[in-house]
Amino acid sequence: MADVHDEIEARLSEVRQFAPSPEFAASANVDVSIYDIATADPEAFWATQARNLTWATPFTTTLEWTPPNATWFGDGTLNASVNCLDRHVANGRGDKVAYHFVGEPEGDTRTITYQALFNEVCRAANALTELGVVAGDRVAIYMPMIPEAIVAMLACARLGAAHSVIFGGFTADALAHRITDADCRVVITADGGFRRGTASGLKVNVDAALAQCPDVHSVVVVRRTGQDVNVVDGRDHWWHDVVAPQSPHHVAQAFPAEQPLYVMYTSGTTAKPKGILHTTAGYLTHVSTTHAMVFDLKADTDVVWTAADIGWVTGHSYIVYGPLCNGATSVLYEGVPDAGGKDRWWRIVEEYGVTILYTAPTTIRTLMKWGDEFPMAHDRSSLRLLGSVGEPINPEAWMWYRDVIGEGRCPIVDTWWQTETGGIMATPLPGVTATKPGAAMRAFPGISLDVVDHEGTSVGNSGGGFLVVNKPWPGMTRGIWGDPQRFQETYWSQVPGRYFAGDGAKLDDDGDLWILGRIDDVMNVSGHRLSTAEVEHCLVAHASVAEAAVVGASDETTGQAVVAFVTLRSGFDADDALVDELRALVSKMIGPIAKPKRILVTPELPKTRSGKIMRRLLRDVAEHRSLGDTTTLLDPSVLSMIDDLMRSTPSDD
Ligand code: PRX
Repeated sequence: MADVHDEIEARLSEVRQFAPSPEFAASANVDVSIYDIATADPEAFWATQARNLTWATPFTTTLEWTPPNATWFGDGTLNASVNCLDRHVANGRGDKVAYHFVGEPEGDTRTITYQALFNEVCRAANALTELGVVAGDRVAIYMPMIPEAIVAMLACARLGAAHSVIFGGFTADALAHRITDADCRVVITADGGFRRGTASGLKVNVDAALAQCPDVHSVVVVRRTGQDVNVVDGRDHWWHDVVAPQSPHHVAQAFPAEQPLYVMYTSGTTAKPKGILHTTAGYLTHVSTTHAMVFDLKADTDVVWTAADIGWVTGHSYIVYGPLCNGATSVLYEGVPDAGGKDRWWRIVEEYGVTILYTAPTTIRTLMKWGDEFPMAHDRSSLRLLGSVGEPINPEAWMWYRDVIGEGRCPIVDTWWQTETGGIMATPLPGVTATKPGAAMRAFPGISLDVVDHEGTSVGNSGGGFLVVNKPWPGMTRGIWGDPQRFQETYWSQVPGRYFAGDGAKLDDDGDLWILGRIDDVMNVSGHRLSTAEVEHCLVAHASVAEAAVVGASDETTGQAVVAFVTLRSGFDADDALVDELRALVSKMIGPIAKPKRILVTPELPKTRSGKIMRRLLRDVAEHRSLGDTTTLLDPSVLSMIDDLMRSTPSDD
């Protein structure tokens, strides 16, 4: 690993750094003293933030920690839905827009104020009560990106029932597994949603799933697309029949700070997804604080667009709970970025005056691949801050985001966190922290991170190793649903007493943090450890490459060999000379050992609906195995196409 890191070092030393702009700093929500305040007494820092929430019973305790179990603000009581809605309405902000909803079909828009959202959540809470939902239950939500999905989440929270939102791209089997694992008895869904110009079927998947889930007694169905659905008498109810007639008032009960708020399933290293549990007060404290400070939120004027799906944690924390706790206005967009044209996003930015845009590097690279003319055709002067999340962002995409999308004006926050962490853990603070293209820079105030070796010893500046969290934080998962042993083993045993994130990271000479990617994606080539992310960084550094995915494929001679899959930016052609150039570039930037044995140029990469490249499946392709489970893919045909290409093109060596 050492020689690889020496190479990274050489590249990092050439890295540009952007100081916070004086204009931004002048009006930023926080200044540099926030780091010292939080470091001096992290628990006091978080307690101060927690007091921004509305409590029915104020807490007197902060952190109680019996590894690996933490409670935060444990003797306080509150209601999550009251914090998102009632208090804003009570403060005279009922007319403020909570969401500008933009459906995928052109012209299908709705504007929803805090008052309207409050009334709809009350109706839904009353309807769920009639269906027998009580505090402590779990309710499955399987919906498109429409306002009713948020209403359903908040109605559950209002009743003290935990929601389990299952991403709309999952199939019936995946849905059934999640419903059973969390023992959900009620499912909220829609007939379907609009995606890529067609109506997907959701209810049909629920019907198939429920054949395996006999304990589900009620299904509530939103009519979104108008397609025919099967209605099971006594079990299935239309949303407009059971929710609309209800009273728009509901007096919310207060629940303990540690009341389960939601379960969110995420993939681990085994095939069985983990139900990551989040509770109420600590989570709300973490997401509202990070939302206000990382995005420098001015709740009165900002229009926040977290372009993610509410089926994933980014949507939970930064479309729903963070912005609503802070009384912000958000854009909620249902569809894919190029529905109705490759300029769809920029039309939305222009029309709603989006000020804060937060999305994933994979999307940024896709937009970059489409070409500058699409954003350039629209007024983006409202944008003042850009964020990135979900995977390492390569410097080229970072610079494009900054220069083209942000016109050089907007600070970029590269935020590292996970489903398990609940909220942002590492990020620059805009107006305060300098930024470097590709670096998450430093721990958020009140969070203690380190990069350690196998023994748990800090590697110090200029060292690479494993990213750990030293101390419990408010938004941390309280466990894996139904599997405390797996929780202990996965996160708290690798480096005893510390949270093991599963990511490799590096501190540069300045002590700034670079996330190198999952350590489970580490390759071993002739006994040398190589990070797949590392090779990808080199490939995307080439002017022709839009995206790259690298896997370690088993190889008779070297143990593993590097196999790369790349897509090209518009205007470049795939030919042998280009492939040779790319291999030479990797060899030059990292060393001959990292030179890909095979580079396959492909029109697209296989991605999940949340935009993650599925390297596991590419490994199957590279190793000529039959393709594994492709159900989480956005478009499984992309993988088959790559498989065919792989089998039909001769190897480069
Ligand atoms: O590998 C890290 C990567 O995404 C993983 C967490 O994925 P998930 O639980 O799906 O949550 C994604 C949204 C928070 C991490 O272990 N990751 C996330 N953010 C970054 C990142 N890698 C590099 N840089 C980031 N900013």
